[in-house]
Amino acid sequence: MVEQIPKQMIGQVHGELSVSRHGNIVVISAKDDIFRPFGVLILDLERGSLGSLLVAEGYRRKGVATALLKEAERIAKEAGLDRIQAGTHFENEVAHNLLRKLGYFEMTVAEKRL
Ligand SMILES: CC(C)(COP(=O)(O)OP(=O)(O)OC[C@H]1O[C@@H](n2cnc3c(N)ncnc32)[C@H](O)[C@@H]1OP(=O)(O)O)[C@@H](O)C(=O)NCCC(=O)NCCS
Repeated sequence: MVEQIPKQMIGQVHGELSVSRHGNIVVISAKDDIFRPFGVLILDLERGSLGSLLVAEGYRRKGVATALLKEAERIAKEAGLDRIQAGTHFENEVAHNLLRKLGYFEMTVAEKRL
């Protein structure tokens, strides 16, 4: 199922958000006029987690990630979730700024590669 989201959702960038769902995995992407993706976010409805957030250089700081996250939140809420989590590296200041701005509060998880 592919659902088209109104263009005005992503402010200055001309394009659309498209949402495709594969079981509990929802892929939200922003595409340009010729359907090249420039932003993506994956929502796992089973775990209530967000991942793989990426906006292409040249499209950043225009509200694309904000639009992707807000759409993920809308879908998660509609699916009955009362919270979602986004993991990010502790040194990723940009991601921390983004998440804080959108009202996420931070928890710390320590991980070690084995
Ligand atoms: C993090 C990332 C997804 C942000 O995408 P974006 O579309 O540029 O983000 P937005 O335009 O929606 O920014 C929203 C807010 O995030 C913060 N932010 C975004 N880019 C920032 C930067 N370069 N420096 C500081 N804060 C920044 C700001 O608070 C910004 O609000 P403002 O523009 O009103 O100040 C993008 O920089 C990216 O793809 N980075 C590499 C991959 C990555 O780090 N992914 C995140 C893993 S959780």
